[in-house]
Amino acid sequence: RQRLLSGMQPSGDSLHLGNYLGALVNWVKLQDQYECLYFIPDLHAITVPHEPAELLHRTRLTAAQYIAGGIDVERSTLFVQSHVPEHAQLAWVLTCLTGFGEASRMTQFKDKAARHGHDAASAGLFMYPMLMAADILLYRPYGVPVGEDQRQHLELARTLAQRFNSRFGETFVVPEALIPPTSAKIYDLQNPTAKMSKSAESPNGLINLLDDPKATAKKIKSAVTDAETVVRFDREAKPGVSNLLTIISTITGEDMDSLVASYEGKMYGHLKTDVAQVVVDAVAPIKARTEELLTDPSELDRLLARGAAKAREIASRTLADVYERVGFLPAL
Ligand code: TYM
Repeated sequence: RQRLLSGMQPSGDSLHLGNYLGALVNWVKLQDQYECLYFIPDLHAITVPHEPAELLHRTRLTAAQYIAGGIDVERSTLFVQSHVPEHAQLAWVLTCLTGFGEASRMTQFKDKAARHGHDAASAGLFMYPMLMAADILLYRPYGVPVGEDQRQHLELARTLAQRFNSRFGETFVVPEALIPPTSAKIYDLQNPTAKMSKSAESPNGLINLLDDPKATAKKIKSAVTDAETVVRFDREAKPGVSNLLTIISTITGEDMDSLVASYEGKMYGHLKTDVAQVVVDAVAPIKARTEELLTDPSELDRLLARGAAKAREIASRTLADVYERVGFLPAL
């Protein structure tokens, strides 16, 4: 079976609906077809200022949400990035292969650095994409399922794989970006031209998987739409309504045309009520299972240790190849 790898940052109070519909739902399905590695990029989480106790809690919380959302630890390898030191080791080698200008052109870095104030942004934030390339290339995966916002990072990983291979000999697999066409992007409910993200301007634009269901329903019912009354899918002219339709069709699997047809003659209020119902029904069991998993953190930690051991078997072999090809003196 071909191999896939992906990860989600343990930042925010929990995963949000964009992470869930844009990534996790897809990850769960991919387990049937591929050998999957899913990890929690905690090294990435410290590229911006953080609280240690919070990071520790959120790392377990994210792991619990992966499992509650359907990641099967018997079939897939689930691990924490900092448990596999090869990620940081390979990141250094790849950083030395990346041009300063090339790294400066990463749009996510530019956005985040602007948000933190350019001089206050850490050098780690600058190195973020090379660490991400290391996460991927260590496992020589066929593909990386991500949302549209990660496309440029994936491109860099591909470029670095090719560059290393041509400079030092065939070592890495050039990974494919697996970006699902419809569910690829979920937008902020209050500002539906911006992607849903934990740095949302208004908390009402963001739905967390662990939110109280009543609060979730309320946020959906106050989602921004437009001055028309017709329910149809048009990302440009009707971003709010289109986002609500995308949320339903991603959860139920119904195709967009028949979904839109079912709203003929109905009002936005109907659509919002349905979205609220579908979302609450989808996330309630995940919330319950996550809470249950967190009642026994030592069991969770044991699962993660097992995953890290499996991941290290692969990662250490790749890193050994890399060190040899780069010309590092073998340690006796
Ligand atoms: P992160 O943690 O920001 O997001 C995790 C995944 O969720 C997707 N996503 C969305 N999809 C749809 N709509 C949205 N509003 C939305 N917001 C987020 C993202 O595309 C992503 O797939 N750099 C990565 C983490 C990472 C990684 C990796 C991923 C580190 N190393 C190696 C893959 C492979 C990140 O910050 O994703």
